Amino acid sequence: MAAQTTVGFGDSTFTTAQEDKNECMEVTKKKQEETTIANHYTAHSTESYEAAFFLSSGDYCNYLNQLTSAHLHLHATPSSSPLEPAAESMRVLDLGGGTGKFARDLVEIHDHLHVVVVEPFLEHTAVSNNHNERISFVKAPAESFIDATPSAAAWTFGYDRLLLKEMIHHLAPSDRVAILTGLHQALRPDPTSRLLVTTRPQVEMDYPMWPAARAVWENNQPTAESLCRDIQAAGFHHVRCSLQVYPVAIPLDIWRTMIVSRFWSTFYSFTDDELRAGCDQIEADYQDRIDDNGLIHFEDRLIFISACRSDH
Ligand SMILES: C[S@@+](CC[C@H](N)C(=O)[O-])C[C@H]1O[C@@H](n2cnc3c(N)ncnc32)[C@H](O)[C@@H]1O
Repeated sequence: MAAQTTVGFGDSTFTTAQEDKNECMEVTKKKQEETTIANHYTAHSTESYEAAFFLSSGDYCNYLNQLTSAHLHLHATPSSSPLEPAAESMRVLDLGGGTGKFARDLVEIHDHLHVVVVEPFLEHTAVSNNHNERISFVKAPAESFIDATPSAAAWTFGYDRLLLKEMIHHLAPSDRVAILTGLHQALRPDPTSRLLVTTRPQVEMDYPMWPAARAVWENNQPTAESLCRDIQAAGFHHVRCSLQVYPVAIPLDIWRTMIVSRFWSTFYSFTDDELRAGCDQIEADYQDRIDDNGLIHFEDRLIFISACRSDH
């Protein structure tokens, strides 16, 4: 929503024509962005999406599972700490959980997890291929949590943990606090209930890209500071932010293929020719990062923001 300067007139308030126009433009922009995101994710199949390095590399996935488990306190057992819940069963919401790949990895490590994957562009194959009864799927957007009432559907409340992994940049900044407030309500009122948001830096990222792609990235990516502020404004406590760095070395050809197949929504609005030209520019600009074996080296930088439901 655009900030509104209100003009008092008796008991009524009016916005100026310019402000109405600004608001209209913002709504139109939001709709266009939503359409772009929808087109991007529906264009991918479960297989093509999961083929990208960040979802397919065993070592990288193990690293991410461990970090996520530690930040979300998923290892909690009755004996691990007097503050942790009796962990026979722990209900986790994986919001924007995509194909459910990460949920599958997590339930494999943790016997006591039950994960609800909430995903607006859920593919039916993700559901039909799921044979794990500790994972369930709901086709819905994060915006469902805005003003969710206690009488709302069972999947909207009663969680021990909330995971928003690499999806928060898709939420309109104007909706973020309202969604996070709804998510705060979705947690069980227990001192151990907590949230984890993982995202990537807005500017200090290290992925090989060309300037136009980097500009799209920066435009779409919220800053860690703004996210921490919104999480706090939504009622969460003990908000902690850290940067985790993983050194990546992958064949340049694979990085090119990932870009040309638009593995991130950053690349969605570029034409095939622009993507190929962008890859050529990467190859020229990053010569000092490409080794004799044709591997391109860069850092995967992830921001982990954790927060507690209560101020214990
Ligand atoms: C980069 S993917 C991350 C998927 C998964 N969390 C992971 O890390 O593998 C971003 C996900 O956010 C989802 N998404 C986009 N807009 C959303 C919204 N409004 N509410 C919930 N999820 C959304 C996309 O469909 C996509 O699955």
